[in-house]
Amino acid sequence: EQTAGKQKPYMYTQGQAVLNRSFFPGFDTPSVKCTYSATVKVPEGFTAVMSATSWEKQKDNTFVFKMSQPIPSYLIALAVGDIVSADVGPRSRVWAEPCLIEAAKKEYDGVIEEFLAVGEKLFGPYVWGRYDILFMPPSFPFGGMENPCLTFVTPCLLAGDRSLVDVIIHEISHSWFGNLVTNATWGEFWLNEGFTMYAQRRISTEVYGSAYTCLEAATGRALLRQHMDNTGEDHPLNKLRVVIEPEFSRFLGVNPDDTYNETPYEKGYCFVSYLAHLVGDQSKFDAFLQAYVNRFKFQSITADDALGFFLEYFPELKEKGVDSIPGFEFDRWLNTPGWPPYLPDLSPGEQLMKPADELAELWAADSLNMEAIEAVDITAWRTYQLVYFLDQVLQKSPLPEGNVETLSKMYPKISKAQNAELRLRWCQIILKNNLEAEYSKVKDFLHSQGKQKYTLPLYRAMWGGSESARALAMETFSATAPQLHVNVQNYIKKILGLE
Ligand code: BES
Ligand code: ZN
Repeated sequence: EQTAGKQKPYMYTQGQAVLNRSFFPGFDTPSVKCTYSATVKVPEGFTAVMSATSWEKQKDNTFVFKMSQPIPSYLIALAVGDIVSADVGPRSRVWAEPCLIEAAKKEYDGVIEEFLAVGEKLFGPYVWGRYDILFMPPSFPFGGMENPCLTFVTPCLLAGDRSLVDVIIHEISHSWFGNLVTNATWGEFWLNEGFTMYAQRRISTEVYGSAYTCLEAATGRALLRQHMDNTGEDHPLNKLRVVIEPEFSRFLGVNPDDTYNETPYEKGYCFVSYLAHLVGDQSKFDAFLQAYVNRFKFQSITADDALGFFLEYFPELKEKGVDSIPGFEFDRWLNTPGWPPYLPDLSPGEQLMKPADELAELWAADSLNMEAIEAVDITAWRTYQLVYFLDQVLQKSPLPEGNVETLSKMYPKISKAQNAELRLRWCQIILKNNLEAEYSKVKDFLHSQGKQKYTLPLYRAMWGGSESARALAMETFSATAPQLHVNVQNYIKKILGLE
């Protein structure tokens, strides 16, 4: 019942961070890499796919897979379902249930190759052969998972207008950062995600320009702000190097999955941007990134390895002692929680952000200036411009009585949106303004998908809201729990005080 076709079952694995130990015996740590092969027999009418460089279908519904490059255990992935494929580029195809394949092909036909080509130009050869994409059932807890050769993605990406393609660029970027050069421990997860965010935005800048990319980065910065406001800047998870106590320590064992948050992504992005700022020349920094990948490919490294190589590569910076500039010490970046000491300049995005800022300002007024509001035509705004606008409205919420109702009527493009990023923000606004009349939208959204980054903020908002919002949370959770990923179920239980 969780699939698009609602008929046949679908199974998938999700290895990152430490779940593959329940899939096969092995050294389930990112510090060890190896090749693998697998033989998978499935029932008639099903297809098996894996994160492998080659595969072959033999008789008896048996599939044989081989990954010929050494990878860490968390990147081994398997899915079996009633799935079919369609080509979208010279080395790329999409996999999806039959009833989604047309939409999947339309979303990505002819766009993937450009991202791969730009990635190769910036970071060096793409070593994985194919880059395919598998659409998962809506309960998949992530936007995307960078399983080598075969990225797993949420069906929410099928927006119809390619507007959520940044997730694909992100997963492609892991082909160099994460999958080739891997964090040796989950305590330095920022090495995977911070470098990948930087690489994603480099590719995006080349393909879509700096205005759009800075706008997208500004929405990322807003997520970091929200996260730090929720947890407090001083929270121990708000440093790049996180202490993850092993099971046998006297401070309990910490599950790396439980440390997942925005800091490794967006503070990590700021740190890599800071390194680029120290270098001062984009092409020199690009060359460094390529040398870094080449130096550490197929290895697992620590932040000390990465930063040591940076200083070795730029001896003049090492001489200047850039690693110990007061307030910006590399050690502080790694070991002190809090807001990033350096923020990259996002002003090229101003042209897109300013109209959104001004419009949000108008909607926050005590008495609405409808003339000024009607003069702004948002019909041509791109998804991320609307997302940015809604984040501003959310920040200013609760708005004066009646304003959100008016906004909802005025912009059906927002309040009736099908796009998941817009739906998330609209639901957050509904809850922050306690707009009971639109609660059904929160419920519908949570019934339609189970991505962790969409689901948890909404449960937090419901639980922190009115009595009726809390009731909505309980009701929605008991109805949807069986279809959520077990980690997501457990995090919600924690929010709702059920455990
Ligand atoms: N590797 C992550 C997903 C992940 C992280 C799974 C930790 C399990 C544990 C993936 O590359 C990712 O970051 N996905 C993001 C994409 C976004 C940043 C564009 C997501 O799912 O939201
Ligand atoms: Zn990632």
